[in-house]
Amino acid sequence: MLFLTCLLLNLALLFRLGCADSIPVAPAPWVLDVSEGYIFVVLPPLSPAFLPPGWANPLEEPELRPGVILPDIGLMMLVRYAAGPVGPYDELIYIPGRWAYNLTDSGLRITQIYVSTNASVFNGRTNWNIPKHLAVFNFTSTDGSTSVTVSPPDDLAHPHFAVNLTPTIGPIPIQVNSTLTGNYLTLIQPSFPASQTNEVEVGTTTWKQLLLNVKTETISASLISGALPGGRIGNGVGYPDIAPLLPIGAKLSGTLIFPEPTIVPNLF
Ligand SMILES: *[C@@H]1O[C@H](CO)[C@@H](O)[C@H](O)[C@H]1NC(C)=O
Ligand SMILES: *[C@@H]1O[C@H](CO)[C@@H](O)[C@H](O)[C@H]1NC(C)=O
Ligand SMILES: *[C@@H]1O[C@H](CO)[C@@H](O)[C@H](O)[C@H]1NC(C)=O
Ligand SMILES: *[C@@H]1O[C@H](CO)[C@@H](O)[C@H](O)[C@H]1NC(C)=O
Repeated sequence: MLFLTCLLLNLALLFRLGCADSIPVAPAPWVLDVSEGYIFVVLPPLSPAFLPPGWANPLEEPELRPGVILPDIGLMMLVRYAAGPVGPYDELIYIPGRWAYNLTDSGLRITQIYVSTNASVFNGRTNWNIPKHLAVFNFTSTDGSTSVTVSPPDDLAHPHFAVNLTPTIGPIPIQVNSTLTGNYLTLIQPSFPASQTNEVEVGTTTWKQLLLNVKTETISASLISGALPGGRIGNGVGYPDIAPLLPIGAKLSGTLIFPEPTIVPNLF
């Protein structure tokens, strides 16, 4: 009976992989409803040789490191999506900086990223070369502040990342569309191999470029402080032990669009 159910599900082409790990296939573009997004600016390293420990998963590190990092900005982002093609999920991102691609093009590179669902892991990797890994997110609100931990699924006692977020001003309804910033939010993502042990962590073979589009509905300011021992934000293993340039960042709600990517020549 179970076999038959699996067969029917697979025939319906709604699901892939084993039946037990049924994952919806959700090709680009994605239009995502951001209920809460936090963005903090970090200093980019001078070169890929100085990337901080925890900047990438060891599986993808060799593909994500090469090239030249431009003197631009890096970003630390925490996002809660309320709705989208794979349903609600949470996300933690580290973008060390902007890599030069060729003489004319450069792009931000997501090197470390956790999401709360396997559907987001599988499709994010497949669609855009975003090297997603699964983690358990815990958001707890008390007295207007929010505590967040992001932990390995098999070791909740040792989070990769833990912070307290305290709103300061706002929220103020401001509609800003990132098309105003031109190509600033371009991502250029290298390809990487599949995991040998986790079938959800698929690999890819061609580099991909995409221009993210964000439209805000509300913006406010938020203070961040580290909640790991010693006041650290990241544990330096699963997420870098770094602090933002300023302990204050933007908190926003709105819409984020991940468009269809362009396949670009592999550089390495
Ligand atoms: C840089 O790459 C883009 C594709 O992303 C291509 O259109 C452009 O011609 C390339 N420029 C150079 C100088 O190679
Ligand atoms: C989430 O974090 C809070 C505060 O640290 C803790 O009390 C709670 O048990 C955690 N929830 C889960 C499901 O781990
Ligand atoms: C995600 O997929 C992995 C690999 O198949 C599986 O071990 C894990 O239980 C899944 N986790 C969730 C939350 O679906
Ligand atoms: C931002 O503006 C562009 C151009 O007008 C539009 O295509 C896009 O849908 C807008 N973004 C959002 C998220 O609404």
